[in-house]
Amino acid sequence: MAGVLDGKVAIVTGAGRGMGRVMTLGLLDAGASVVAVEVDAPVLEETESAADARGSRERMIGVVADVTRDESAPKIVRAATERCGRLDILLNNAGIGLSFFRAPEIEDYGKFWDVAPAEFRRIIEVNVVAAFLMARAALPAMLKQRWGRIINVTTSLDTMYRGGMQPYGGSKAANEAHLLALAQELEGSGVTANVLVPGGAANTRMVSVGQQADRSKLIQPEVMVIPLIWLASNASDGVNGQRFIATRWDNGLAPAEAAKKAGAPMAWQQLGRQSVNPDGMR
Ligand SMILES: NC(=O)c1ccc[n+]([C@@H]2O[C@H](COP(=O)([O-])OP(=O)(O)OC[C@H]3O[C@@H](n4cnc5c(N)ncnc54)[C@H](O)[C@@H]3O)[C@@H](O)[C@H]2O)c1
Repeated sequence: MAGVLDGKVAIVTGAGRGMGRVMTLGLLDAGASVVAVEVDAPVLEETESAADARGSRERMIGVVADVTRDESAPKIVRAATERCGRLDILLNNAGIGLSFFRAPEIEDYGKFWDVAPAEFRRIIEVNVVAAFLMARAALPAMLKQRWGRIINVTTSLDTMYRGGMQPYGGSKAANEAHLLALAQELEGSGVTANVLVPGGAANTRMVSVGQQADRSKLIQPEVMVIPLIWLASNASDGVNGQRFIATRWDNGLAPAEAAKKAGAPMAWQQLGRQSVNPDGMR
């Protein structure tokens, strides 16, 4: 994979922990420069140390920022365009669920009506609003160069409407619906929008010890890297509006075949045409 992304510039949000850290290191290993964004400064330093140990620290720009704030996205995009000269890939990975507000040993997060209004709002801000703000700031540079990748990490389709998983599930449904609409608007522009998910519970802080004590049974964050590099590379030119399940990616196959096996249309388009509109109205 080394060299596949030579010269490309990526932004990764939530780069200090979990899948964000692993994917940041994967992009660096593949040759990209990475603007690594994280709200928690100490964990971003750990990602920097890991990049240092692999010899790619000079291609990583760490930015401590809260991506829900209006002023963050333009600042992050400027870090890419001014310090690296371009921007090719936006990986909207930062995300939180109710586990963020609960002690690690808690297994049951309570019912829909137990969620505090401030918790509900914060989850929507991080998982929905920030992904919009980042795409909005990143797209002008990508559209100008007629090449770009918006990649959002959402969640499994059944998690989106599962009891006990709200508002996390619904926030990811909103994120993915927005991204599918964006993918349609980007058609033919050279910029694509796709989803990448692990395909189930992954071994990160987000899945609490109370939910799964044996961490080896969870999906390991490293499964994200190979599909991500393919999606971020020229090899996926023209692939738009798709969702890829990382744990279903078969490394024994040629990448295009593996992508076919692990991919499907984004969101739930295949469920049918539900709205009845007068002729000519979209
Ligand atoms: N872990 C799973 O089982 C799982 C499954 C499907 C999808 N996901 C998604 O994967 C993505 C990565 O999650 P993870 O499991 O690695 O969790 P994680 O908690 O290990 O990492 C998320 C990172 O995002 C950062 N972050 C949160 N809010 C931020 C903000 N406002 N600004 C900047 N950074 C912020 C956190 O500080 C953290 O470092 C999330 O979008 C999550 O919803 C996770």
